[in-house]
Amino acid sequence: MKPASMLLLALAATTANAETPTMRQLMLDLIHPASNDIQVFINRGAPKDEADWFRVRRSALTLATSESVLTPSPNPDWTKDAKAMAEAGAAAYQAAQAKNFNALAALADSLDASCTNCHKQFRPNVFPHKAGPAGGSK
Ligand code: HEC
Repeated sequence: MKPASMLLLALAATTANAETPTMRQLMLDLIHPASNDIQVFINRGAPKDEADWFRVRRSALTLATSESVLTPSPNPDWTKDAKAMAEAGAAAYQAAQAKNFNALAALADSLDASCTNCHKQFRPNVFPHKAGPAGGSK
């Protein structure tokens, strides 16, 4: 069983309603905090001790292993976007393991883009789709 699936099971078991978290909950409680933890270090200064690097590693690993919890859609674009996020997370994990801040900082844009690319297509309340071949209101 993948770690992400185990996390879901653990969540389901401990949530009062024993329900699988919604996409919104996954974003707010798992994906965004993880990504934010990494971006804060990138923007405000390198991790300074083992505890800081641990936070980066944990958050990077969260993103790297979250692909499967974000894959409920048969749409190949969704799968591609979730994979891009996992790959950025995996690269951040490698950089954190090597305590290589330059390598970590170089990932800021691809990490950010991996969120935005998916949101542009699948979060239309934030990125309203224009009518046309690429968008429309289906
Ligand atoms: C594979 C698609 C996908 C990827 C990748 C993705 N998201 Fe999301 N995200 C969504 C969708 C869909 C929603 C809308 C959920 C809803 O409102 O039901 C969302 C919503 C959110 C929200 C708003 C939650 C709210 O309603 O207040 C935040 C914050 C967020 N994502 C952060 C991120 C960050 C940060 C990343 C990148 C590290 C990311 N997401 C990557 C699909 C994705």
